[in-house]
Amino acid sequence: MIEVLVLYYSRNGATRRLAEAIAEGIAGVSGVEARMRTVPAVSAVSEATEPAIPTAGPPYVELTDLSECAGLAMGSPTRFGNMAAPLKYFIDQTGAQWMTGALRGKPACVFSSTGSLHGGQETTLLSMMLPLLHHGMLLVGIPYSEAELMTTSAGGTPYGATHWAGADGSHTVTATELHLAQVLGERLARVALRLA
Ligand SMILES: Cc1cc2nc3c(=O)[nH]c(=O)nc-3n(C[C@H](O)[C@H](O)[C@H](O)COP(=O)(O)O)c2cc1C
Repeated sequence: MIEVLVLYYSRNGATRRLAEAIAEGIAGVSGVEARMRTVPAVSAVSEATEPAIPTAGPPYVELTDLSECAGLAMGSPTRFGNMAAPLKYFIDQTGAQWMTGALRGKPACVFSSTGSLHGGQETTLLSMMLPLLHHGMLLVGIPYSEAELMTTSAGGTPYGATHWAGADGSHTVTATELHLAQVLGERLARVALRLA
């Protein structure tokens, strides 16, 4: 049995819903389990700290999760066309893992949620790919054999899974968005299994 790390930040729950769909896709592959982890918010007051254990949802990620897992699905809400600071803050602490190659040769995929449909889904996905490439990870996307990529009227891209949450976050994740997120999780798990 191998584990694939599903690491995300979500302030209002939209990105978390995609993370759960990706984890479902991973769990559908025999021999692979999903390990869900999140990151704490970064406080505007640098002395302030979050409780050591989140009040709800998965535990906070630890650096050992990166070396213990055979693959990584990483997700963030879009913030000004980029990944959110709490996730970037965690990544910026992975210098030792970079030096030792803890993630080198492992597969990874990315996912995101936005307020507006054209507000930076692809740019956010690309911004998350950059540090993963520096780590030597092998990126997995969604192939156009998934017909929904051509027909979606909300999220879902070849670069990774996405959700269009709407300006007030009121959009529920569509069946197409869910399907593409699950497909991505399953694909990542199959690649991780082959490489492990
Ligand atoms: C500071 C800030 C910046 C944002 N920037 C963008 C943006 O560039 N494009 C966009 O479409 N949505 C943007 N949003 C909206 C979030 O991406 C959107 O609400 C997302 O679905 C939240 O995901 P969550 O529920 O997982 O926290 C921004 C939100 C905040 C708070």
